[in-house]
Amino acid sequence: MFSGRIALVTGGGNGIGRAICQILARDGARVVAADMDHAAAQDTVRMLNGTPASGEPMLVIPVHEKIENNNSPHDHISLMMDVTDKASVESAFSAAIDKFKAPPSLVANGAGITRPAFLMQMDEKAFMDVLDVNLKGTFLVTKAAVAALVEDDASSGAIVNISSLAGKAGTMGQCNYSASKAGVMAFTKTAAMELASIGVRVNCVLPGFTETAMLDDVPEKVMKKLIKITPLNRLAKPAEIAEVVTFLLSDKSSYMTGACVEVTGGLGM
Ligand SMILES: NC(=O)c1ccc[n+]([C@@H]2O[C@H](COP(=O)([O-])OP(=O)(O)OC[C@H]3O[C@@H](n4cnc5c(N)ncnc54)[C@H](O)[C@@H]3O)[C@@H](O)[C@H]2O)c1
Repeated sequence: MFSGRIALVTGGGNGIGRAICQILARDGARVVAADMDHAAAQDTVRMLNGTPASGEPMLVIPVHEKIENNNSPHDHISLMMDVTDKASVESAFSAAIDKFKAPPSLVANGAGITRPAFLMQMDEKAFMDVLDVNLKGTFLVTKAAVAALVEDDASSGAIVNISSLAGKAGTMGQCNYSASKAGVMAFTKTAAMELASIGVRVNCVLPGFTETAMLDDVPEKVMKKLIKITPLNRLAKPAEIAEVVTFLLSDKSSYMTGACVEVTGGLGM
């Protein structure tokens, strides 16, 4: 479906981001797994490429380092990227362009964090840290992606941001996270309006509760309640979110831009 197109996925080292990398690779894209947790991004690439039987090292491109060897047999690469840091984002895009000789035309903004606390107990740092990763990170990566496409005279691109049901409905103990994800939706719509004229579509997905490390700290009692109120009566698998993200990145969704698609098992409809 993507026949050699270059896709960059932030948060590509774990959970939903890793699943997006896997499905994009399955469908023919050359994948850049970008994550602040570089070891995890390397593991993703190892999965995509298959661990070499000989035990030869995987291709890994550290941030701020140019690619010397363009003849790698690997189709996929990992990059260290801190989405909150403009220099780190731009450096990772440069490294990807050096490797593939073209900018990524498919981008999934999957990096995200939570710092839960009730409003009256939440300190400013917890509030801003979440805004920085989830919202500012989406802005920085989108801006770098579009700048690279324009620089390359590319005629089309697709960006998918990961919001959350929390951004639509709010969620107890997560005013920072909910606000960041509502921001991602409004950001998506504005970016879609501004970028349509240059052929870049921007959409977002609102996952419901999904089986990743992000839910590790949710008490079992709460998880049981959440599953009970979810019409499909279970959590999502990361791949179930990733399939929708991949659809929105593909030409199958060519008439969609500015859409916020819920993938929630029916919760919060
Ligand atoms: N799991 C859920 O239930 C759920 C529900 C709704 C939305 N989401 C959203 O889906 C996205 C993926 O979350 P997940 O559940 O896979 O979580 P996860 O914790 O498994 O993965 C998040 C990834 O983001 C990376 N990351 C964190 N800060 C970063 C930074 N500054 N720069 C680059 N990478 C960074 C982490 O290293 C990690 O690999 C997030 O945006 C999250 O908010 C998740």
